[in-house]
Amino acid sequence: MSALVPSPSVAANGAKIPLLGLGTWELRGRTCARMVEQALLLGYRHIDTAEMYDNEREVGEGVHASGVKRGDVFVTTKVWPSHFAPRDLERATRDSLSRLRLRELDLLLLHWPNPQIPLADTLGALCQVKRDGLTRHIGVSNFTVKLVEEAVRLSTEPLICNQIECHPFLDQSKVIAACRKNNMAVVAYSPIARGGARNDKLLARIGAAHGKTATQAGLRYLVQQEIVVIPRTSKEQRLAENAAIFDFVLSAAEMEEIAGLVRRDGRVVDWSYSGRMHWD
Ligand SMILES: NC(=O)c1ccc[n+]([C@@H]2O[C@H](COP(=O)([O-])OP(=O)(O)OC[C@H]3O[C@@H](n4cnc5c(N)ncnc54)[C@H](OP(=O)(O)O)[C@@H]3O)[C@@H](O)[C@H]2O)c1
Repeated sequence: MSALVPSPSVAANGAKIPLLGLGTWELRGRTCARMVEQALLLGYRHIDTAEMYDNEREVGEGVHASGVKRGDVFVTTKVWPSHFAPRDLERATRDSLSRLRLRELDLLLLHWPNPQIPLADTLGALCQVKRDGLTRHIGVSNFTVKLVEEAVRLSTEPLICNQIECHPFLDQSKVIAACRKNNMAVVAYSPIARGGARNDKLLARIGAAHGKTATQAGLRYLVQQEIVVIPRTSKEQRLAENAAIFDFVLSAAEMEEIAGLVRRDGRVVDWSYSGRMHWD
């Protein structure tokens, strides 16, 4: 496989986050390690995992096997809400580092809000692991507008992003505006709607006009707004497809047409999921 031009980055509160990353939810075992390695060989420079994905060991294997210099790869992991009490958060971070076989993370996120533990305590611990050198940057995930504002107010270290579900079928304009107001990047999870973008006729038509697929048109729509995308695939040929989104530009009219795809039931990740979780 030939290497792609490395993807551009977005600036956020002093950090630089590569606009394209590889998502790894549900990637397991050898497939996970191989996809991470191949993505890095192709030119991806950002890998997204979480303690909950149960694949940090394999993600670490892939990162090391790629031979890409540590300083050139942006590795994100996330603390699960059952570990939000300060002492647990530090332990969980050290455990993630040891599974990944890394000395320092690039980004550590709070995976979902946990209403059972005061946010001030959790953010205090998150800032502390940053000050202790366990992670270069910190941020949040699945935070609403209200929670973003509260987190920014409570955090003594800059929060660099909110990782949220984001794709053409979901209106996230309010939370995106809150992130921008606070100089936080938006990292789009499920950016191809868990595969759903592929079957959309409008995306297919606009993609075809640029010699691209529907999936590529949907991803381009996000990165063109400086939204970071972390598509996940278990297929090597799709790694290249999902990365080839920096060599074409959508017109203002095409961007507007894609914006019209928003629908009320656009979510593909079930939020009741967080409510159903066992916190301890
Ligand atoms: N913070 C959070 O709470 C949270 C929640 C969800 C996800 N995430 C992160 O975001 C990442 C991405 O989200 P996601 O995994 O939910 O969904 P996604 O990336 O939107 O979609 C993944 C699905 O799309 C398929 N796919 C990938 N490339 C394709 C292509 N070019 N054409 C057609 N189908 C394609 C994949 O199948 P194949 O494997 O067969 O290619 C897979 O079924 C996750 O892996 C995870 O790292 C975070």
